[in-house]
Amino acid sequence: MGKEIDLLVNYPKTKRNLDERVASKTEADRAIARQFGRDFFDGDRRHGYGGFNYFPRFWQPVIPTFQEYWGLQKGSSVLDVGCGKGFMLHDLAELIPGIVVKGIDISQYAIENAIDDMKPYVQVANALKLPFPDDSFDVVISINTVHNLERKECGQALQEIERVSRGNSFITVDAYRNDEEKERMYAWNLTAKTIMSVDEWIGFFKDVGYTGDYFWFIP
Ligand SMILES: C[S@@+](CC[C@H](N)C(=O)[O-])C[C@H]1O[C@@H](n2cnc3c(N)ncnc32)[C@H](O)[C@@H]1O
Repeated sequence: MGKEIDLLVNYPKTKRNLDERVASKTEADRAIARQFGRDFFDGDRRHGYGGFNYFPRFWQPVIPTFQEYWGLQKGSSVLDVGCGKGFMLHDLAELIPGIVVKGIDISQYAIENAIDDMKPYVQVANALKLPFPDDSFDVVISINTVHNLERKECGQALQEIERVSRGNSFITVDAYRNDEEKERMYAWNLTAKTIMSVDEWIGFFKDVGYTGDYFWFIP
């Protein structure tokens, strides 16, 4: 089994205004967000990011953690499942010259609007069926993405990550540790379809055969 490890420990913490997001969100807003189109990335805040732009301050502090943990170097290969506009991949490629990066995302909008230097390396695909042969990558990373699938499909996506990875993977998913966190998570959530307690997730990883590492997104 993989282990619980916060490889995003150096990702900057943003202040989230929970009340504002809860108050301004309806089922219709959720439906729009779940299309992962322009509205989700660059539309109104109630449908998603409210502007999804590149800032080095987000992923650049995280890359050295990845680099050290997996010994990433020239020639290492990394797949990002749910890569959005490729910002994390951009920083990996910038800070680790010669690394081989690939990204997939279900959003045609995100892929079409990917950061310029990553355009050749990102493509539209579903986490449910990764368009790569078995054992293709040294590391597969998926941040806040697989929980957007229903439970059964989420298990299938984890098996796909397992299949294309040569042994190392890391995911983060929406989770809670107690009732207070659970309430906050459901209030915060816009797109996730599978939200569980950390213990349920760990049991789920075992059931579906996911042996990579993991950590939690807890708002
Ligand atoms: C919360 S965003 C995270 C983006 C990026 N990983 C990050 O951390 O900045 C979730 C991403 O998952 C993508 N996504 C949702 N469902 C997906 C699926 N079934 N297969 C691939 N990507 C998916 C969305 O389009 C979106 O880019």
